[in-house]
Amino acid sequence: MTEAKLEAWLEETRSFAPSPEFAKQANAQPSIYAEADADPVAFWRKQADRLVWHKEPTKTLEWDIPFAKWFSDGELNASVNCVDRHVAAGKGDKVAYYWVADAEGESRTITYGDLQKLVAQAANALTELGVKKGDRVAVYMPMIPEAVVTMLAIVRLGAVHSVVFGGFSADALSSRILDSDCQFVVTADGAYRRGTASPLKPAVDEALKSCPNVKAVLVVKRTGSDVEWVKGRDHWWHEIVDKQSTEHTPEFFPSEHTMFIMYTSGTTAKPKGIFHTTAGYLTQAATTHYYVFDVKADKDICWTAADIGWITGHSYIVYGPLINGVTQIMYEGLPDSGGKDRWWKIIEQFKATILYTAPTTIRTLMKWGEEFPKSHDLSSLRLLGTVGEPINPEAWMWYRENIGGSRCPIVDTWWQTETGAIMCSPLPGITATKPGAAMKALPGISVDIVDNDGNSVGNGEGGYLVITQPWPSMTRGIYGDPERFKETYWSRFPGKYFAGDGAKRDDDGDIWLLGRIDDVMNISGHRLSTTEVEHALVGHPAVAEAAVVGASDDLTGQAIVAFVTLRLSADEQMQDQAAVIEELRVHVAKVISPIARPRQIILTPELPKTRSGKIMRRLLRDVAENRQLGDVTTLMDPTVVNMISGLMGSGDDGDQ
Ligand code: PRX
Repeated sequence: MTEAKLEAWLEETRSFAPSPEFAKQANAQPSIYAEADADPVAFWRKQADRLVWHKEPTKTLEWDIPFAKWFSDGELNASVNCVDRHVAAGKGDKVAYYWVADAEGESRTITYGDLQKLVAQAANALTELGVKKGDRVAVYMPMIPEAVVTMLAIVRLGAVHSVVFGGFSADALSSRILDSDCQFVVTADGAYRRGTASPLKPAVDEALKSCPNVKAVLVVKRTGSDVEWVKGRDHWWHEIVDKQSTEHTPEFFPSEHTMFIMYTSGTTAKPKGIFHTTAGYLTQAATTHYYVFDVKADKDICWTAADIGWITGHSYIVYGPLINGVTQIMYEGLPDSGGKDRWWKIIEQFKATILYTAPTTIRTLMKWGEEFPKSHDLSSLRLLGTVGEPINPEAWMWYRENIGGSRCPIVDTWWQTETGAIMCSPLPGITATKPGAAMKALPGISVDIVDNDGNSVGNGEGGYLVITQPWPSMTRGIYGDPERFKETYWSRFPGKYFAGDGAKRDDDGDIWLLGRIDDVMNISGHRLSTTEVEHALVGHPAVAEAAVVGASDDLTGQAIVAFVTLRLSADEQMQDQAAVIEELRVHVAKVISPIARPRQIILTPELPKTRSGKIMRRLLRDVAENRQLGDVTTLMDPTVVNMISGLMGSGDDGDQ
């Protein structure tokens, strides 16, 4: 779609109504909102019936702000809910995962029956290594089936997993192991990325030099590369797990038993150990998966293209989909492992029906060009989702037209590690969607947008996103630091959860996320979102990706600095950088307002991204303000920011 077409369309159409055929068969029917509004607590109690309980709860919510307990007198086992129940119901032969390796042609099919046996063996092996209820176990693994098996085995024992993304450094791993005092680590010798084996175990060895409490390390052989071995501490998976019994009798744990910890970056340097408990988390993961993705266990092949090392992988590769008993695709590689059409090949081969990914990936796929998806049959797809950051309308439209064949509803899902599950999203079949809007709080969820004083803003106005009522999958806190939990989330607006995101209501009252509030700029007293300026830049046909930061400015308080990557074709053809920069500045001024005209635009071949694909604006702010660079260890490629620093001199200083 051309920019002019997009603008014309935004002016005229503004929203896509659900198709009547989709609406008729949708899991969510319009009455769901009224039902949940009438009594949200009763709504969630009903949703908790998705779980199999060892002891049914009689209590639903106990709320002592900011500490919630959900279903507290119930008892259950998370892994029984994900696996055993389906086998007991006669679905043992149903495929749980089509696991697709980085290398083309390599895959594994794992049924629910297989999964039950694998989880039992892993639980028995972990028991042999000494893992007991309440123990913390770090998981540092690539996207292989053993990662899911490990998570399920850990929670089966009532232990607590702390999955650390396999791309993190040894330092990051050791600080996470130490913070929650993990005594066990499960890892692999290495991982495959675009056909190349990259080591993982050496980072564990390095990390454990400063973690004397770790007693045992369980290692999956994935790449076969040489590894150092600490006798007595290290154990091969194939030696200790494979010999175990394929049966394991589960214990049952109270609803509020801690299930996992997931570290996430905050505004300070120290990552926060966000922890979740069992029944509330599982209830909301399953409920949102059911309604937002409209899953039909008998038909759908769901693909959440995320890593298990992030909350998206926890909730929508492991727990939500398994509770709902669906078949999934789990993919080890990168989007271009084996070629830029790899994803589309996978969709065609396995007939994926639902695809869930991040806007940053969509923009990358878009940059590669539509000839790649066009060369494959994507007609099996019936629903698309996005998560992780605001999506610009152009990427949304590209996704809709080129991947969804203009027929698939798109759910733009807003949520956080802390919320545990999706909070705001259209419901397919009910909500008319708008490109770039998360639209509405889900049934049973109460969100508001408030001004500085905590008062609700009106339609057409922006402010801070807050959550005003407790929800089942809310984090129960920061591991070991309840004060920091209160301070970070509950002190800005007393009694309300402060998400840290800016948002606005449009004239229809629908919700648009505007990015983290630390990314909101103040230019000459005018508040502007970095996202808004990025959207404008990405809306220009020459631009592939843009990151905008507010840099301090003596005259205007803050001024806009934009880092821009151009589309390959434009990049190749580009002769006159200064002219392109000027054109982009004029373009932004035209699309938003002259106030939004960037002071400086730096053209760069790449943007610095975390390994989860998020643009590191903090580092760009450092670059823009000529500061010494902060921590770069979480970057996918730390050399990118040095390169951008070098380019700073070439940006246009403009005339503001
Ligand atoms: O700023 C919001 C953004 O991602 C943040 C949460 O990041 P994390 O805990 O890593 O979880 C990501 C996956 C759930 C939020 O505070 N975010 C997430 N989804 C969206 C989003 N921003 C806009 N639109 C979304 N759909």
